[in-house]
Amino acid sequence: MKRRLFFLLFILCGLVAQATDVDSLLALMTHREKVRLVIGGGWSSLFSGFNIPFCGKQRVPGAAGVTHAVGRLGIPSVVMADGPAGVRIKPLQKTDGKKREAYATAFPVGCCLASSWDTALLEEVGAAIGDEAAAYGIDIILSPGMNLMRSPLCGRNYEYYSEDPLLSGKLAAATVRGIQSVGIGACVKHFACNNQETGRMHNDSRVDSVTLFSLYLRPFEIAIRESDPWTVMSSYNMLNGERTQESRWLLTEVLRRRWHYRGVVMTDWTFRRHTRRQIAAGNDLMMPGDLLQRRQLRRAFLGAENGENMLDTCARRVLQMVRKTRSAQGLQATGKPHLEEHARLARRAAAESFVLLHNEGGALPFSPEARVALFGASSYDLVAGGTGSGHVNAAYKTNLSDALPHCVGALLQAEYRRWAQDNTHRNKAAGFGFMQKFLGRGALKEMPLKREWITEALDSADIALITIGRQAGEGRDRQPADFELTREERDMLQQVSQEARMRGIKTVVVLNVSGAIETASWRHLADAVLLIWCPGQEGGCAAVDVLTGVVNPSGRLTMTWPERLEDLPSTRIFGDERVTLYAERDSVGYRAFRDGRRRPAYAFGHGLSYSAFREEILADGRIAVTNTGERPGRHVVMWWEDGILTGFAKTRLLAPGECQVLGHEQAAVAVGKEAEIVGERVVVDAAPVAVNEGADQ
Ligand code: BGC
Repeated sequence: MKRRLFFLLFILCGLVAQATDVDSLLALMTHREKVRLVIGGGWSSLFSGFNIPFCGKQRVPGAAGVTHAVGRLGIPSVVMADGPAGVRIKPLQKTDGKKREAYATAFPVGCCLASSWDTALLEEVGAAIGDEAAAYGIDIILSPGMNLMRSPLCGRNYEYYSEDPLLSGKLAAATVRGIQSVGIGACVKHFACNNQETGRMHNDSRVDSVTLFSLYLRPFEIAIRESDPWTVMSSYNMLNGERTQESRWLLTEVLRRRWHYRGVVMTDWTFRRHTRRQIAAGNDLMMPGDLLQRRQLRRAFLGAENGENMLDTCARRVLQMVRKTRSAQGLQATGKPHLEEHARLARRAAAESFVLLHNEGGALPFSPEARVALFGASSYDLVAGGTGSGHVNAAYKTNLSDALPHCVGALLQAEYRRWAQDNTHRNKAAGFGFMQKFLGRGALKEMPLKREWITEALDSADIALITIGRQAGEGRDRQPADFELTREERDMLQQVSQEARMRGIKTVVVLNVSGAIETASWRHLADAVLLIWCPGQEGGCAAVDVLTGVVNPSGRLTMTWPERLEDLPSTRIFGDERVTLYAERDSVGYRAFRDGRRRPAYAFGHGLSYSAFREEILADGRIAVTNTGERPGRHVVMWWEDGILTGFAKTRLLAPGECQVLGHEQAAVAVGKEAEIVGERVVVDAAPVAVNEGADQ
């Protein structure tokens, strides 16, 4: 008997050792182990980042989630962290009684980077984020966020790329390729039609099939076909009456059968939902997962018809993903990312992405020697990024006030610094303690100005520089008032530009914003307007690089800046808590202006340079670009068909007189393919469906 037991044990050990391929490993797993594998390891790693008690010891405190290990079979736990602008983990950690810093580089946010129209740059930033993830022991980065910008009011637009599906898809694919080039998994999110934050857990996006395929699914299809992400995140919302996380049509029929996606689908971070339906729909990994969910799934699937098969399918895909991770390869976290090198990249990437909206009489660039009177609270406290899961805990940020070499107006500067220290509006907006650490701090409210502060500064200045700041984030959409300027901002623009003009001084406005704002009513007050978005930790230095001409601006808008919000049909049907009819169909962004009846304040694709370029269309459709100006610069070329963007490319830095011929690859998605699907899904005028919240298993 004893000998038999030893023999069995021997065979078992041999099997374990040999079970290198996923199917043999799966065959060795018990039902309980498979269930553990497909239900994530809970909220504790995230919450442990914020000193919430009872979270236990975590490998990477502050990481968004983990999968369970199966120690008996050598299957490691996999760590996932946000996010799109850089690694989000707890910045000050304690390991083995020792304190250590775990800051990450805050890169420019998605909408900023996208404005570079430079896929190579996005790949480079993706690779740097991946490199930091590896250094901190993270296997998967929950990026890119790539929902289409349906309305400028979406709170998370700052994480996303564009209102155009081709551009969004191509830029997302570049980010995925970058992250995955260093052996870290990427996660394209949030699949799909998660285009607002209001009612984000249950809002029902009602979209007709042509619009759905040609606008909202197309970027995902491009990214999946062109970059093969390890993971896709199914979104919180509903689509045409069904939760996307429970839609077999979306997750299996479209994503896997039509697009041939082979990776893992994980749910967005939610408390328990109907797990069996999520799995049946095509999710493989329920995140962040909890104990009760595991118990329920065990009961629901054990012995159930087809249950074990479904579980095997999920577990197999999760195992295939785990096998690719650094954790599975036994690669250790060094804890030493290349922060200095990445700070340089963050600065370069930001400067390459800024958009020069307006430049009367060559107001920009100004001389590095220019004495600058600096106005606007965000000049002294930059809005480096957005709030929520896209927030990054960076070690520092550079403000314009730090980066500009010659700021004048001691009184003005002292008042702004005092305002930044005392001001509690920001705290009220972002909440205290845990919430601030989790979400990031809100932007400062604008400081009302006294005339003597303005005159004291302008009396010794060569340039008046005003920054307008806005911040947005996860969990809350922007309100129409956020698009408009506040009274303080209007007064500041009015007073400063008037005083500056009286002295013959030019007024430059820097927009440090997370999305489009109203510009039509005040831009005549500014000689130049530079859009720096939320530019990351090096934003102040990067802005100075462009303001002083060290870098020639080459960014272009990836979304339309309307004169009034109402000019975009989608804004009029935005922000309902329960149901959103995408009744504007494809009249999103620049597509809404194709009839030429209205004009936007700044059009999609707009962006000026300090140089000038000539484009010549060649017989084969390629375009020859010549720098006809006096400064080296880069130029973005766009190909259009019937008013729709069909391709784009960016030149290298061209010296004056230099020429480069550019072509573009067709996207990996056949145009017109969506016609096959017309009539397949529910349409916009269907009656609202009752929302069933919470765990219903
Ligand atoms: C967000 C995701 C994020 C996840 C983990 C969710 O609330 O929607 O984008 O990756 O949290 O932090």
